[in-house]
Amino acid sequence: MAHTEFPVFLNEHLRANALPVEIGAVLTDIVAGCLAISKKVRLGALAGVLGEAGSGNIQGEAQKKLDVIANDILVETLRRCPHIAGLASEEEDDFVAANAAGEYLVLFDPLDGSSNIDVNISVGTIFSVLRKPHDGAAQSADFLQCGTAQMAAGYVLYGVQTQLVLTLGHGVFAFTLDDQGQFILTRSRLNVPAAAAEFAINMSNYRHWEEPVRVYIDELLAGESGVRGKNYNMRWVASMVAEVHRILMRGGVFMYPKDARDPSKPGKLRLMYEANPMSWLITQAGGAASDARQAILTIQPQSLHQRVAVILGAQEEVTVLADKHRAA
Ligand code: AHG
Ligand code: MN
Ligand code: MN
Repeated sequence: MAHTEFPVFLNEHLRANALPVEIGAVLTDIVAGCLAISKKVRLGALAGVLGEAGSGNIQGEAQKKLDVIANDILVETLRRCPHIAGLASEEEDDFVAANAAGEYLVLFDPLDGSSNIDVNISVGTIFSVLRKPHDGAAQSADFLQCGTAQMAAGYVLYGVQTQLVLTLGHGVFAFTLDDQGQFILTRSRLNVPAAAAEFAINMSNYRHWEEPVRVYIDELLAGESGVRGKNYNMRWVASMVAEVHRILMRGGVFMYPKDARDPSKPGKLRLMYEANPMSWLITQAGGAASDARQAILTIQPQSLHQRVAVILGAQEEVTVLADKHRAA
């Protein structure tokens, strides 16, 4: 059942937000790119998009065919948009220049959850829109803005249903793709409750975590008889986009903490196109997002592919874990 009597289409929602037409055009093109990706995802083997690409990205990760296909679709769609000056992607070494007159920069993870593509488990596209801070052609330093400067952020989840979840800084709204290729508003003003009874972490990394994370997880696992005095459930999809979606729908906390596997990496997830957009969505829904030491949205980025520890979701849980780091 739709949540309003009349369906609200994405373009009507954008108009109702009295957005500048330029950013409306940017979002429309991002969504058009995601629609093209969703068609490939849905067909899988029938479209020949499964399996390895046989190449790697600048971060030393093996690319799946669909990582490359999704990236090419977004780059080709967005570089034609007159309002976009530059693009940054997980799969591109450097930023990609678009139209010098464009007012905006778009950053994206074209395909999040790559390990799930070939096993038909939810994947998604994550995006963040920044304002270009000056006139003229975009430069790489223009992208290094704090998460608090985002103009729009969201993701498209290619799941059981294909959904767009979006914030423009006035709450978080979810749209479901219908069979005519239209995104229809299905949930408004999503809310992440302050308390949680569900956590998401890759437990196989337990031995690599810092002590405060181990202690925190031990307390959750102790359940009713432990210091937290209640039982917790656990989930791990291995697609951040699906974990964040679950938290926006029913609460909980998600963590990919710093670990000791590679001392040069302060976490697995990337600040600019994974942590920042997801942190803004979660905080816009009343939750919290931290790297265990500071709010993610206030981190001054140093490089495009910078990694960061991520703890996001229910305020109480993010606070308990941050307090343990402070006390350590
Ligand atoms: P990507 O597919 O864009 O590289 O991101 C994958 C990320 C994220 O979606 C997920 O939370 C995490 O990697 C899963 O990591 P593990 O395989 O270590 O569980
Ligand atoms: Mn990702
Ligand atoms: Mn990716």
